Amino acid sequence: MSQLQQLQIQYFRNLTQVSLEFQSGLNLIVGDNAAGKTALIEALWVLATGRSFRTHQPSHLIQHQQPHFTLFCQIQDDQKDTPNKLGMQRSMQQALLKLNGERCQSQAQFAQTLPLQLLTPESHRLLEEGPKARRQFMDWGCFYQTSQFLPLWRNYQRALKQRNRALKQQLPPQQITLWDAPLVQSALEIDQLRSTYLAQLTPHLQNFCHQLIPEIEQTVTLSYRAGWPQQTKNLQQLMQDHLPQDRKKGHTQYGCHRADIRFRFGQLEAMQTLSRGQQKLFVCALLLAQAQLHQEQTGNRVIMLIDDLPAELDAHHRHTLLQLLQQLKIQHLITTTDAKLIDDLNPNTSQTWQLSQGELKAI
Ligand SMILES: Nc1ncnc2c1ncn2[C@@H]1O[C@H](COP(=O)(O)OP(=O)(O)OP(=O)(O)O)[C@@H](O)[C@H]1O
Ligand SMILES: [Mg+2]
Repeated sequence: MSQLQQLQIQYFRNLTQVSLEFQSGLNLIVGDNAAGKTALIEALWVLATGRSFRTHQPSHLIQHQQPHFTLFCQIQDDQKDTPNKLGMQRSMQQALLKLNGERCQSQAQFAQTLPLQLLTPESHRLLEEGPKARRQFMDWGCFYQTSQFLPLWRNYQRALKQRNRALKQQLPPQQITLWDAPLVQSALEIDQLRSTYLAQLTPHLQNFCHQLIPEIEQTVTLSYRAGWPQQTKNLQQLMQDHLPQDRKKGHTQYGCHRADIRFRFGQLEAMQTLSRGQQKLFVCALLLAQAQLHQEQTGNRVIMLIDDLPAELDAHHRHTLLQLLQQLKIQHLITTTDAKLIDDLNPNTSQTWQLSQGELKAI
Protein backbone atom coordinates (compact mmCIF):
# COMPACT_ATOMS: atom_id res chain seq x y z
CA MET A 1 0.00 0.00 0.00
CA SER A 2 1.57 3.28 -0.98
CA GLN A 3 1.70 5.63 1.90
CA LEU A 4 3.09 9.07 2.28
CA GLN A 5 5.26 9.16 5.37
CA GLN A 6 6.86 12.55 5.37
CA LEU A 7 6.79 15.88 3.58
CA GLN A 8 9.21 18.79 3.86
CA ILE A 9 8.70 22.16 2.24
CA GLN A 10 11.05 25.09 2.10
CA TYR A 11 10.44 28.55 0.57
CA PHE A 12 7.29 27.52 -1.28
CA ARG A 13 4.87 30.49 -1.39
CA ASN A 14 4.34 31.54 2.26
CA LEU A 15 5.61 28.19 3.60
CA THR A 16 9.09 29.03 4.79
CA GLN A 17 9.88 25.79 6.52
CA VAL A 18 7.27 23.08 7.01
CA SER A 19 7.69 19.46 7.98
CA LEU A 20 4.95 16.83 8.38
CA GLU A 21 4.84 13.18 9.42
CA PHE A 22 1.73 11.65 7.90
CA GLN A 23 -0.82 9.28 9.33
CA SER A 24 -2.31 6.51 7.22
CA GLY A 25 -5.86 7.91 7.23
CA LEU A 26 -7.00 11.49 7.66
CA ASN A 27 -4.39 14.24 7.70
CA LEU A 28 -6.22 17.47 8.46
CA ILE A 29 -4.75 20.93 7.98
CA VAL A 30 -6.72 23.66 9.71
CA GLY A 31 -6.06 27.32 9.04
CA ASP A 32 -7.60 30.70 8.39
CA ASN A 33 -7.73 32.28 4.98
CA ALA A 34 -4.26 32.90 3.56
CA ALA A 35 -2.64 30.56 6.12
CA GLY A 36 -1.07 28.55 3.29
CA LYS A 37 -3.45 25.57 3.13
CA THR A 38 -3.78 25.50 -0.64
CA ALA A 39 -0.03 26.17 -0.89
CA LEU A 40 0.64 23.00 1.09
CA ILE A 41 -1.50 20.86 -1.20
CA GLU A 42 -0.06 22.63 -4.22
CA ALA A 43 3.48 21.84 -3.04
CA LEU A 44 2.76 18.12 -3.00
CA TRP A 45 1.07 18.33 -6.41
CA VAL A 46 4.06 20.20 -7.86
CA LEU A 47 6.43 17.59 -6.45
CA ALA A 48 4.51 14.76 -8.15
CA THR A 49 3.60 16.38 -11.45
CA GLY A 50 6.04 19.24 -11.94
CA ARG A 51 3.09 21.60 -12.42
CA SER A 52 0.87 23.71 -10.25
CA PHE A 53 -2.90 23.71 -10.55
CA ARG A 54 -2.93 27.48 -9.91
CA THR A 55 -0.19 28.95 -12.05
CA HIS A 56 2.11 28.20 -14.98
CA GLN A 57 4.83 30.46 -13.60
CA PRO A 58 7.41 28.90 -11.27
CA SER A 59 8.21 32.42 -10.05
CA HIS A 60 4.79 32.53 -8.36
CA LEU A 61 5.66 29.45 -6.34
CA ILE A 62 9.08 30.48 -5.09
CA GLN A 63 8.85 32.50 -1.91
CA HIS A 64 9.47 36.20 -2.52
CA GLN A 65 13.15 37.13 -2.15
CA GLN A 66 14.29 33.49 -2.28
CA PRO A 67 16.27 31.88 -5.11
CA HIS A 68 14.39 28.56 -5.13
CA PHE A 69 11.98 26.29 -3.31
CA THR A 70 12.78 22.79 -2.10
CA LEU A 71 10.33 19.91 -1.65
CA PHE A 72 10.99 16.49 -0.25
CA CYS A 73 8.81 13.53 0.52
CA GLN A 74 9.16 9.97 1.60
CA ILE A 75 6.67 7.40 0.40
CA GLN A 76 6.38 3.70 1.05
CA ASP A 77 4.87 1.34 -1.48
CA ASP A 78 3.98 -2.30 -1.08
CA GLN A 79 6.30 -3.57 -3.74
CA LYS A 80 9.44 -2.28 -2.00
CA ASP A 81 11.07 -2.78 1.38
CA THR A 82 12.55 0.67 1.68
CA PRO A 83 10.62 3.91 1.13
CA ASN A 84 11.17 6.08 -1.94
CA LYS A 85 12.59 9.53 -1.38
CA LEU A 86 11.62 12.26 -3.81
CA GLY A 87 13.32 15.63 -3.82
CA MET A 88 12.81 18.68 -6.01
CA GLN A 89 14.56 22.00 -6.07
CA ARG A 90 13.09 24.61 -8.39
CA SER A 91 14.67 27.94 -9.22
CA MET A 92 13.47 30.37 -11.89
CA GLN A 93 15.72 28.69 -14.43
CA GLN A 94 15.55 25.00 -13.70
CA ALA A 95 14.17 22.09 -11.76
CA LEU A 96 16.43 19.52 -10.13
CA LEU A 97 14.93 16.14 -9.28
CA LYS A 98 16.41 13.48 -7.05
CA LEU A 99 14.98 10.03 -6.58
CA ASN A 100 16.55 8.16 -3.67
CA GLY A 101 19.53 10.47 -3.75
CA GLU A 102 20.24 10.07 -7.48
CA ARG A 103 19.62 12.71 -10.13
CA CYS A 104 16.46 11.90 -12.02
CA GLN A 105 15.53 13.33 -15.43
CA SER A 106 11.95 12.17 -15.53
CA GLN A 107 9.07 13.93 -13.84
CA ALA A 108 6.92 10.99 -14.95
CA GLN A 109 8.89 8.77 -12.62
CA PHE A 110 7.94 11.09 -9.76
CA ALA A 111 4.28 10.94 -10.75
CA GLN A 112 4.52 7.17 -10.93
CA THR A 113 6.02 6.98 -7.44
CA LEU A 114 3.61 9.48 -5.91
CA PRO A 115 0.10 8.84 -7.32
CA LEU A 116 -2.06 11.76 -6.26
CA GLN A 117 -5.63 12.76 -6.84
CA LEU A 118 -6.85 16.28 -6.32
CA LEU A 119 -10.20 17.71 -5.36
CA THR A 120 -10.45 21.49 -5.09
CA PRO A 121 -13.38 23.91 -4.97
CA GLU A 122 -12.84 24.26 -8.74
CA SER A 123 -13.06 20.54 -9.49
CA HIS A 124 -16.63 20.66 -10.80
CA ARG A 125 -15.03 22.30 -13.86
CA LEU A 126 -14.34 18.77 -14.98
CA LEU A 127 -17.96 18.70 -16.07
CA GLU A 128 -18.54 22.31 -16.86
CA GLU A 129 -15.59 23.36 -18.93
CA GLY A 130 -14.03 22.22 -22.18
CA PRO A 131 -12.81 18.67 -22.82
CA LYS A 132 -9.21 19.23 -21.73
CA ALA A 133 -9.89 18.38 -18.09
CA ARG A 134 -11.81 15.25 -19.11
CA ARG A 135 -8.93 14.12 -21.32
CA GLN A 136 -6.56 14.69 -18.40
CA PHE A 137 -8.87 12.62 -16.25
CA MET A 138 -8.84 9.60 -18.57
CA ASP A 139 -5.14 9.98 -19.33
CA TRP A 140 -4.39 9.91 -15.59
CA GLY A 141 -5.98 6.45 -15.58
CA CYS A 142 -4.18 5.25 -18.72
CA PHE A 143 -0.83 6.53 -17.43
CA TYR A 144 -1.03 4.48 -14.23
CA GLN A 145 -2.63 1.50 -15.92
CA THR A 146 0.11 0.81 -18.44
CA SER A 147 3.66 1.96 -19.09
CA GLN A 148 2.83 1.89 -22.82
CA PHE A 149 0.71 4.99 -22.52
CA LEU A 150 3.34 7.67 -21.90
CA PRO A 151 5.59 6.87 -24.91
CA LEU A 152 2.52 6.65 -27.15
CA TRP A 153 1.26 9.96 -25.90
CA ARG A 154 4.66 11.57 -26.41
CA ASN A 155 4.90 10.18 -29.96
CA TYR A 156 1.45 11.47 -30.69
CA GLN A 157 2.24 14.95 -29.36
CA ARG A 158 5.45 15.08 -31.36
CA ALA A 159 3.75 14.11 -34.63
CA LEU A 160 0.87 16.50 -33.98
CA LYS A 161 3.21 19.38 -33.28
CA GLN A 162 5.16 18.76 -36.50
CA ARG A 163 2.01 18.38 -38.57
CA ASN A 164 0.54 21.58 -37.14
CA ARG A 165 3.79 23.43 -37.76
CA ALA A 166 3.74 22.26 -41.39
CA LEU A 167 0.11 23.37 -41.72
CA LYS A 168 0.80 26.75 -40.21
CA GLN A 169 3.81 27.33 -42.46
CA GLN A 170 1.66 26.29 -45.44
CA LEU A 171 4.21 23.72 -46.56
CA PRO A 172 3.42 21.52 -49.59
CA PRO A 173 0.90 18.68 -48.89
CA GLN A 174 3.53 15.90 -48.93
CA GLN A 175 5.37 17.59 -46.05
CA ILE A 176 2.17 17.65 -44.05
CA THR A 177 0.88 14.15 -44.79
CA LEU A 178 4.33 12.84 -43.91
CA TRP A 179 3.16 13.05 -40.29
CA ASP A 180 -0.14 11.25 -40.86
CA ALA A 181 1.21 7.71 -40.46
CA PRO A 182 2.96 8.23 -37.08
CA LEU A 183 0.06 10.35 -35.87
CA VAL A 184 -2.55 7.76 -36.81
CA GLN A 185 -0.52 4.85 -35.49
CA SER A 186 -0.23 6.29 -31.99
CA ALA A 187 -3.77 7.74 -32.14
CA LEU A 188 -5.30 4.31 -32.65
CA GLU A 189 -3.34 2.80 -29.79
CA ILE A 190 -4.17 5.68 -27.44
CA ASP A 191 -7.80 5.39 -28.48
CA GLN A 192 -7.81 1.72 -27.58
CA LEU A 193 -6.26 2.35 -24.17
CA ARG A 194 -8.64 5.19 -23.37
CA SER A 195 -11.78 3.32 -24.35
CA THR A 196 -10.72 0.18 -22.47
CA TYR A 197 -9.93 2.25 -19.40
CA LEU A 198 -13.29 3.99 -19.41
CA ALA A 199 -15.13 0.72 -19.88
CA GLN A 200 -13.34 -0.68 -16.82
CA LEU A 201 -14.05 2.46 -14.84
CA THR A 202 -17.79 2.55 -15.54
CA PRO A 203 -19.03 -0.04 -12.99
CA HIS A 204 -16.93 1.63 -10.27
CA LEU A 205 -18.36 5.01 -11.16
CA GLN A 206 -21.89 3.63 -11.07
CA ASN A 207 -21.24 2.20 -7.64
CA PHE A 208 -19.90 5.47 -6.17
CA CYS A 209 -22.65 7.55 -7.80
CA HIS A 210 -25.13 5.26 -6.15
CA GLN A 211 -23.48 5.83 -2.77
CA LEU A 212 -22.92 9.58 -3.08
CA ILE A 213 -26.00 10.65 -5.07
CA PRO A 214 -28.54 7.91 -4.36
CA GLU A 215 -31.42 10.30 -5.07
CA ILE A 216 -30.67 9.97 -8.77
CA GLU A 217 -32.24 6.71 -9.84
CA GLN A 218 -30.98 6.56 -13.39
CA THR A 219 -27.68 4.82 -13.88
CA VAL A 220 -24.79 6.91 -15.06
CA THR A 221 -23.20 6.02 -18.41
CA LEU A 222 -20.00 7.23 -20.02
CA SER A 223 -19.73 7.75 -23.70
CA TYR A 224 -16.27 8.15 -25.01
CA ARG A 225 -15.55 10.30 -28.09
CA ALA A 226 -12.34 9.40 -29.84
CA GLY A 227 -11.72 12.79 -31.44
CA TRP A 228 -12.89 11.80 -34.92
CA PRO A 229 -16.28 10.75 -36.33
CA GLN A 230 -17.51 7.46 -34.94
CA GLN A 231 -18.23 5.94 -38.36
CA THR A 232 -14.61 6.46 -39.50
CA LYS A 233 -13.19 3.21 -40.90
CA ASN A 234 -9.80 4.49 -41.93
CA LEU A 235 -8.36 7.36 -39.89
CA GLN A 236 -5.44 7.95 -42.21
CA GLN A 237 -7.82 8.29 -45.16
CA LEU A 238 -9.92 10.74 -43.14
CA MET A 239 -6.83 12.84 -42.40
CA GLN A 240 -6.02 12.93 -46.10
CA ASP A 241 -9.56 13.76 -47.15
CA HIS A 242 -9.66 16.49 -44.55
CA LEU A 243 -6.35 18.07 -45.52
CA PRO A 244 -7.82 21.06 -47.37
CA GLN A 245 -9.87 22.04 -44.28
CA ASP A 246 -6.85 21.52 -42.00
CA ARG A 247 -4.76 23.74 -44.28
CA LYS A 248 -7.41 26.43 -44.17
CA LYS A 249 -7.58 26.33 -40.36
CA GLY A 250 -3.83 25.92 -39.89
CA HIS A 251 -4.14 22.99 -37.49
CA THR A 252 -5.16 19.33 -37.31
CA GLN A 253 -8.83 18.99 -36.56
CA TYR A 254 -9.22 15.27 -35.96
CA GLY A 255 -7.25 13.19 -33.49
CA CYS A 256 -6.73 12.14 -29.88
CA HIS A 257 -6.24 15.77 -28.91
CA ARG A 258 -9.97 16.26 -29.56
CA ALA A 259 -11.23 13.31 -27.49
CA ASP A 260 -13.91 13.82 -24.86
CA ILE A 261 -16.23 11.98 -22.48
CA ARG A 262 -19.96 12.57 -22.12
CA PHE A 263 -21.65 11.59 -18.87
CA ARG A 264 -25.35 10.82 -18.91
CA PHE A 265 -27.95 9.89 -16.34
CA GLY A 266 -30.58 8.06 -18.36
CA GLN A 267 -31.13 10.26 -21.40
CA LEU A 268 -29.93 13.46 -19.74
CA GLU A 269 -26.47 14.98 -19.88
CA ALA A 270 -24.96 15.18 -16.38
CA MET A 271 -24.54 18.94 -16.67
CA GLN A 272 -28.23 19.41 -17.37
CA THR A 273 -29.52 17.26 -14.57
CA LEU A 274 -27.12 17.71 -11.64
CA SER A 275 -27.26 20.56 -9.13
CA ARG A 276 -23.99 22.30 -8.29
CA GLY A 277 -23.56 20.18 -5.16
CA GLN A 278 -24.39 17.02 -7.10
CA GLN A 279 -21.80 18.00 -9.70
CA LYS A 280 -19.21 18.13 -6.95
CA LEU A 281 -20.34 14.77 -5.63
CA PHE A 282 -20.17 13.37 -9.13
CA VAL A 283 -16.56 14.51 -9.41
CA CYS A 284 -15.88 12.81 -6.05
CA ALA A 285 -17.42 9.64 -7.50
CA LEU A 286 -15.17 9.91 -10.56
CA LEU A 287 -12.06 10.22 -8.40
CA LEU A 288 -13.08 7.40 -6.07
CA ALA A 289 -13.79 5.19 -9.06
CA GLN A 290 -10.32 5.91 -10.40
CA ALA A 291 -8.79 5.30 -7.00
CA GLN A 292 -10.49 1.94 -6.62
CA LEU A 293 -9.62 0.77 -10.11
CA HIS A 294 -6.03 1.92 -9.57
CA GLN A 295 -5.93 -0.15 -6.40
CA GLU A 296 -7.29 -3.24 -8.13
CA GLN A 297 -5.00 -2.99 -11.10
CA THR A 298 -1.71 -1.90 -9.54
CA GLY A 299 -2.05 -3.08 -5.95
CA ASN A 300 -1.08 0.46 -4.95
CA ARG A 301 -3.21 3.17 -3.42
CA VAL A 302 -3.57 6.78 -4.44
CA ILE A 303 -3.27 9.66 -2.00
CA MET A 304 -6.24 12.00 -2.13
CA LEU A 305 -5.73 15.73 -1.67
CA ILE A 306 -8.87 17.70 -0.84
CA ASP A 307 -8.58 21.45 -0.58
CA ASP A 308 -11.25 23.15 1.48
CA LEU A 309 -13.60 20.21 1.89
CA PRO A 310 -16.46 22.15 3.55
CA ALA A 311 -16.59 24.48 0.53
CA GLU A 312 -17.33 21.41 -1.51
CA LEU A 313 -19.98 19.52 0.39
CA ASP A 314 -22.63 19.66 3.11
CA ALA A 315 -22.20 17.81 6.43
CA HIS A 316 -23.98 14.64 5.39
CA HIS A 317 -22.07 14.27 2.14
CA ARG A 318 -18.77 15.14 3.81
CA HIS A 319 -19.41 12.31 6.20
CA THR A 320 -20.22 9.86 3.40
CA LEU A 321 -17.08 10.83 1.50
CA LEU A 322 -14.88 10.46 4.59
CA GLN A 323 -16.43 7.06 5.23
CA LEU A 324 -15.70 5.93 1.69
CA LEU A 325 -12.10 7.12 1.94
CA GLN A 326 -11.74 5.19 5.15
CA GLN A 327 -13.31 2.05 3.72
CA LEU A 328 -11.03 2.18 0.71
CA LYS A 329 -8.06 2.82 3.04
CA ILE A 330 -7.07 5.86 1.01
CA GLN A 331 -4.67 8.16 2.78
CA HIS A 332 -6.09 11.68 2.57
CA LEU A 333 -4.85 15.19 3.14
CA ILE A 334 -7.70 17.61 3.75
CA THR A 335 -7.68 21.33 4.43
CA THR A 336 -10.36 23.35 6.17
CA THR A 337 -10.83 26.66 7.91
CA ASP A 338 -12.78 24.96 10.71
CA ALA A 339 -11.83 21.60 12.25
CA LYS A 340 -15.36 21.10 13.63
CA LEU A 341 -16.63 20.62 10.09
CA ILE A 342 -14.60 17.47 9.55
CA ASP A 343 -15.56 14.25 11.36
CA ASP A 344 -12.62 12.37 12.71
CA LEU A 345 -13.85 8.85 11.98
CA ASN A 346 -10.81 7.02 13.22
CA PRO A 347 -8.48 8.88 15.61
CA ASN A 348 -5.99 5.99 15.45
CA THR A 349 -5.14 6.79 11.86
CA SER A 350 -5.56 10.56 11.85
CA GLN A 351 -3.69 13.72 12.75
CA THR A 352 -4.66 17.38 12.80
CA TRP A 353 -2.37 20.36 12.33
CA GLN A 354 -2.97 24.05 12.79
CA LEU A 355 -1.43 26.18 10.06
CA SER A 356 -1.03 29.86 10.68
CA GLN A 357 1.01 32.25 8.58
CA GLY A 358 2.95 29.43 7.05
CA GLU A 359 3.75 27.75 10.41
CA LEU A 360 2.47 24.27 11.15
CA LYS A 361 1.72 22.86 14.62
CA ALA A 362 0.38 19.39 15.40
CA ILE A 363 -2.70 19.50 17.69
N1 LIG B 1 5.55 33.45 -3.87
C1 LIG B 1 5.02 33.78 -2.67
N2 LIG B 1 5.84 34.17 -1.65
C2 LIG B 1 5.31 34.47 -0.44
N3 LIG B 1 4.00 34.42 -0.14
C3 LIG B 1 3.16 34.05 -1.12
C4 LIG B 1 3.62 33.70 -2.43
N4 LIG B 1 2.57 33.35 -3.19
C5 LIG B 1 1.49 33.47 -2.39
N5 LIG B 1 1.83 33.89 -1.16
C6 LIG B 1 0.96 34.11 0.02
O1 LIG B 1 0.71 32.84 0.61
C7 LIG B 1 -0.45 32.93 1.42
C8 LIG B 1 -1.15 31.59 1.39
O2 LIG B 1 -2.01 31.44 0.30
P1 LIG B 1 -2.97 30.17 0.18
O3 LIG B 1 -3.75 30.39 -1.04
O4 LIG B 1 -2.18 28.93 0.30
O5 LIG B 1 -3.89 30.33 1.48
P2 LIG B 1 -5.10 29.42 1.98
O6 LIG B 1 -4.77 29.00 3.38
O7 LIG B 1 -5.40 28.37 1.01
O8 LIG B 1 -6.28 30.49 2.04
P3 LIG B 1 -7.85 30.35 1.69
O9 LIG B 1 -8.52 29.79 2.92
O10 LIG B 1 -8.24 31.78 1.48
O11 LIG B 1 -8.00 29.50 0.48
C9 LIG B 1 -1.22 34.14 0.90
O12 LIG B 1 -1.14 35.16 1.89
C10 LIG B 1 -0.44 34.58 -0.33
O13 LIG B 1 -0.44 35.99 -0.49
MG1 LIG C 1 -7.01 28.01 -0.25
